[in-house]
Amino acid sequence: MKQICVVGVGYVGLITAAGFADLGNRVIALDISEEKVEGLKRGDMPIYEPGLEELVERNVKSGRLTFTTSYAEGIKDTEFAFIAVGTPSGVDGEADLQYVEAAARSIAEVMSDELIIINKSTVPVGTGDWVAKIVKRSQQEEIPFSVVSCPEFLREGSAILDFMNPHRTVLGSLNREAADKVAQLHLPLRAPIVITDLRTAEMIKYASNAFLATKISYINEIANICEALGADVTEVANGMGYDERIGHHFLNAGLGYGGSCFPKDVLALTHMAEEKGKHPQLLHAVMEINADRRPMAIERLEELLDGELNGRTIGMLGLAFKPNTDDMRDAPSIDIANKLIAAGASVRGYDPVSMEVAAPLLPAVEMCDDPFTMAEGCDALIVNTEWNEFKQLNRRQLLEVMKQPVIFDGRNIYDPEEMAELGFQYRGVGRGYNGKRTAEK
Ligand code: UDX
Repeated sequence: MKQICVVGVGYVGLITAAGFADLGNRVIALDISEEKVEGLKRGDMPIYEPGLEELVERNVKSGRLTFTTSYAEGIKDTEFAFIAVGTPSGVDGEADLQYVEAAARSIAEVMSDELIIINKSTVPVGTGDWVAKIVKRSQQEEIPFSVVSCPEFLREGSAILDFMNPHRTVLGSLNREAADKVAQLHLPLRAPIVITDLRTAEMIKYASNAFLATKISYINEIANICEALGADVTEVANGMGYDERIGHHFLNAGLGYGGSCFPKDVLALTHMAEEKGKHPQLLHAVMEINADRRPMAIERLEELLDGELNGRTIGMLGLAFKPNTDDMRDAPSIDIANKLIAAGASVRGYDPVSMEVAAPLLPAVEMCDDPFTMAEGCDALIVNTEWNEFKQLNRRQLLEVMKQPVIFDGRNIYDPEEMAELGFQYRGVGRGYNGKRTAEK
């Protein structure tokens, strides 16, 4: 039984802590927020993630998972200390490392025995070396330690599944022995383990996320072209995806990427490159295409509503940046709602789990208890999030309550032909034929 301390009970930290506890390790999860730690001790999760509450409960009950606000308690007898604190974007898009620095300093101040410090937070290339310097400087007396980078690749909404079934584990360290020990910890996950140096491991994380963001912007660019040429991007993506070099994943055109990772990481990578005098042209294009998705949604709604948004009522199906999460960070719905309101429309919203989080961010949006109440009297609906419950929504019932049968499907969850048959004025993304396949004369 290994003793692990995980600093930070946010998304990454809590899942890492509960996941390693579930694999049979003794884990102490540490956070400086009394409120979060007290809540967790009572069984209240600080975030919504399917299966998390049960996972935490099971491991707390077994005694393998405990919580604390005290570094002295957390680091005592610990062999591995994970840093999993937030790295928000600073003013220029660079990652703000104040929480990483504070965690490294606090660990160093209380450590009394050899320790492996593992960085899980997404941090600029070179941070591992910097953390090592901070720890060295902050120690009361010289105690051996190593720093290992172990970037996380969890997706919100399927984070527990991703933790238990990783595609790979990436470990970076200048100390091979330490990397091997961390590798041992990950062996039960049965994934390939890539061991490299600190900077390369840190770069693997950025390069992976930027590549996935690029895939999304690429398909969104293709969607724009499909619209102009009368092709259907969903079928184009499907046809492309069978080529194993391309693959089917991350080729869903729509409102673009949001969330806590892609926007921040692409920006941070751009910033790192530019600081060194490089010109990351592709990354700029990726961000520009993504930013254009939100005004695109407004344009489509405007077209569907005969050029007039002023005085219209628009209902939003979904608010979270993606399904199975209540996360509203950089959710397209925020920009879209604000733009609609600025254009004089009234906006209503429904989301299966994120309304509580969304309400303070969208004070002018009327939150509704279900999709049908929301659709009542609406001139148009927009699908922002592809929640499963929207896919089989009774659309005849929607038709009955809406003022006009208009839907802009920002995530392509409906079939254009079926929607046209039902009597909707429907537009998806990148579906140039709009439910009416015609041969060019
Ligand atoms: C992502 C990475 O997948 C994960 O490995 C990393 O650790 C954190 O960032 P996450 O932000 O939770 O995870 O969500 P993900 O499922 O990757 O989706 C990110 C965004 O891209 C969402 O806004 C989603 O709607 C959008 N997306 C994704 C698309 O628009 N099209 C796609 O085909 C896939």
